Amino acid sequence: MNLRKYVPQDLDAIVEIEKKAFPVGPYSRRMLKRVLKEGGSISVVAEVDSVIAGYAVLLPLNEDEADIETIAVLPEFHGKGISDRLMEYLEEEARKRSFSEIILEVREKNLRAISFYRRHGYEVISYIPEFYHEYYEGSRGAFRMSKALNGATDD
Ligand SMILES: CC(C)(COP(=O)(O)OP(=O)(O)OC[C@H]1O[C@@H](n2cnc3c(N)ncnc32)[C@H](O)[C@@H]1OP(=O)(O)O)[C@@H](O)C(=O)NCCC(=O)NCCS
Repeated sequence: MNLRKYVPQDLDAIVEIEKKAFPVGPYSRRMLKRVLKEGGSISVVAEVDSVIAGYAVLLPLNEDEADIETIAVLPEFHGKGISDRLMEYLEEEARKRSFSEIILEVREKNLRAISFYRRHGYEVISYIPEFYHEYYEGSRGAFRMSKALNGATDD
């Protein structure tokens, strides 16, 4: 498995991952294009035998905080450590850029993602009842989770 920075040629594959990974409310192609190239965003893809198996995007919110805008892996590659590598990459880049905290929002019914984030040290800091537009398993609610980054460096 290989991690590398996103390039525009990856967009088609990412649109497909998004559709397969999110049964409700996937980002549109236009939205993905914007998010992946947003100023200052850190966008990474994971390749397995030249197949793009997952991607992730971290967006700066201010000088101290960055937000995991999205992280998704093709279902057939779940449970294989690809998401761990994507997360480690984002956190490493965030430390390099001296962010002290990462936050994210996750659907309250997305138990797999919540377990994943908890294992990576993220804790629930608030609940937002109507965060999402579409319902998923009867809910539009999200947990906001955060993690303090230790050892932020300036290099
Ligand atoms: C979220 C995601 C990136 C995690 O990657 P992954 O490879 O599936 O993650 P892992 O298998 O390493 O970890 C998932 C954890 O959930 C657990 N799990 C699996 N199914 C579960 C379920 N139905 N309920 C609760 N926990 C579950 C696993 O046992 C594992 O537990 P652990 O972290 O304690 O070991 C991936 O599942 C994904 O792409 N999901 C769809 C997109 C998505 O929801 N992204 C997050 C948006 S906020």
